[in-house]
Amino acid sequence: MSLGHVFSSVAVAGVLLIGYAAHAQEAVLGKNEFEARCSVCHGVTGAGDGLVGELFAQKPKNLRVLAKENGGIFPFDEVRAAIDGRRRVIAHGSSEMPIWGDYLMAEALEGRFIRPNDARLVVEARISALTQYIHSLQAD
Ligand code: HEC
Repeated sequence: MSLGHVFSSVAVAGVLLIGYAAHAQEAVLGKNEFEARCSVCHGVTGAGDGLVGELFAQKPKNLRVLAKENGGIFPFDEVRAAIDGRRRVIAHGSSEMPIWGDYLMAEALEGRFIRPNDARLVVEARISALTQYIHSLQAD
């Protein structure tokens, strides 16, 4: 095992551990990420009333009603895919929603010793944390 591998494994374990600890108490990782990156458009409570969102013709989605709109079942896979955005169907046209999968991947790869496979795990963990947090925001 190379030194680089050890470092990137430690980085991945760190992110996964933070995710685990957050899950055991409250969704701290997802909450922090949401407030830092999503609330500008979707609003602090996820209601779609963020300040930046007001500037776009296409209104950011109210993320508190996703379960309600899906017959009371929170659509985990769809939400994960919507955040990731890398498999977005071009036919749907352009979207103001950033492609977070690409963005988070580029950010993860900035880690000096991280390998692409480990970076992928970090991205998945962060998208899962965000999805869990949006789940916790459901109005009813
Ligand atoms: C620049 C504004 C902007 C930012 C920042 C943003 N979004 Fe969005 N988001 C949108 C818009 C606009 C839509 C609705 C259009 C669409 O679905 O393509 C949307 C749609 C979504 C959807 C799809 C909801 C559905 O219809 O199922 C999810 C989930 C979502 N955003 C989550 C997030 C998360 C998580 C973040 C932060 C990591 C984030 N968004 C940051 C603008 C934004």
